[in-house]
Amino acid sequence: MKSKLSIAAVMLSAMILGTQCGFAAPADQKPGVKILATGGTIAGSAASKTATSGYKAGSLGIDVLMEAVPEIKDYAQVSGEQVCNISSNNMTDELWLKLSKRINELAAQKDVGGIVVTHGTDTLEETAYFLDLTVKSDKPVVITGAMRPATAISADGPMNLLNSVRLAADKKASGNGVMVLLNDEIDNARDVTKTNTTSVDTFKSHNGPLGFMNDGVPDFYNKPLRLHTTKTPFDVRNLTSLPKVYVIYGTAGSDGKIVDAAVKAGAKGIVYAGTGNGSIHQQDKEALIKAAKAGVVVVRSSRTGSGMVVPEPEYAKEGFLDGDSLNPQKARILLQLALTKTHDLGEIQAMFHKY
Ligand code: SIN
Repeated sequence: MKSKLSIAAVMLSAMILGTQCGFAAPADQKPGVKILATGGTIAGSAASKTATSGYKAGSLGIDVLMEAVPEIKDYAQVSGEQVCNISSNNMTDELWLKLSKRINELAAQKDVGGIVVTHGTDTLEETAYFLDLTVKSDKPVVITGAMRPATAISADGPMNLLNSVRLAADKKASGNGVMVLLNDEIDNARDVTKTNTTSVDTFKSHNGPLGFMNDGVPDFYNKPLRLHTTKTPFDVRNLTSLPKVYVIYGTAGSDGKIVDAAVKAGAKGIVYAGTGNGSIHQQDKEALIKAAKAGVVVVRSSRTGSGMVVPEPEYAKEGFLDGDSLNPQKARILLQLALTKTHDLGEIQAMFHKY
């Protein structure tokens, strides 16, 4: 009896050690992970190994990215799919809809345990938040990219891809909404933002990351508290476009003309990236009052980069909403999705405090 117990204990320790050290599980026990590639620097190719700028983002296909990291197959049954191959500064609402629909299809499949999206870093946080609000699954969805092109010495893409597959294949990662993983840091889609133009350590969350990849193993220290994925009402499966929402950046010298132009261009909503606590230049305020009277939903956010926009009676009385702690580019996404559901200002404001 004693020897049976000790054999079991040795086997258990070997299994735990195996997982910690990243030993491969037998192929039929590995979860299926689908990689959806969209382009970006992770798929970027430069003229020389030393070049980290002046390269073409989105030039290598998913097969090339996967061939560069054969180790991904040690952790999952991996397959790839090219959704598009663009620089993410050219991301569109239509591509978001396509990506979200495809993830929803894949996540419904039994043989898919998790999904990885490779993406340019410029708008990665926006795509992550859009998916966080529209993917209807608890399965891990991880979005990653790279700051150095695939051809560079010390390119960060291969390790980011490997870690993302490890994270997407890990049951511990379920129910966290869409996660952003670069440079060993796991962040939640709502709070993460790109903070530096060129550093590999660019993605940061003001309230701290969800966790870290420690030698390839995910460890979590926080949970996203705002509702996401299966707990939002946003279903884009039958949508082919999103309501037009513009972000307008408040500065000294603003004169209301950009607000007027946005309304003329058909804005259904305007996110005002205000100074400080979402403050609005007097000239823009007059134009926004006119816009709101014409039915355009106005949301105040802040250009400061962190903090919550605290309600101000001066703006509330004009019907302007508060964007909570979402940065302007993410407030735009929530307003677009909110407008697919309702035009009621009270209901939209409640969404900003929930998601
Ligand atoms: C892009 O966002 O596609 C280019 C920049 C990058 O991926 O780092």
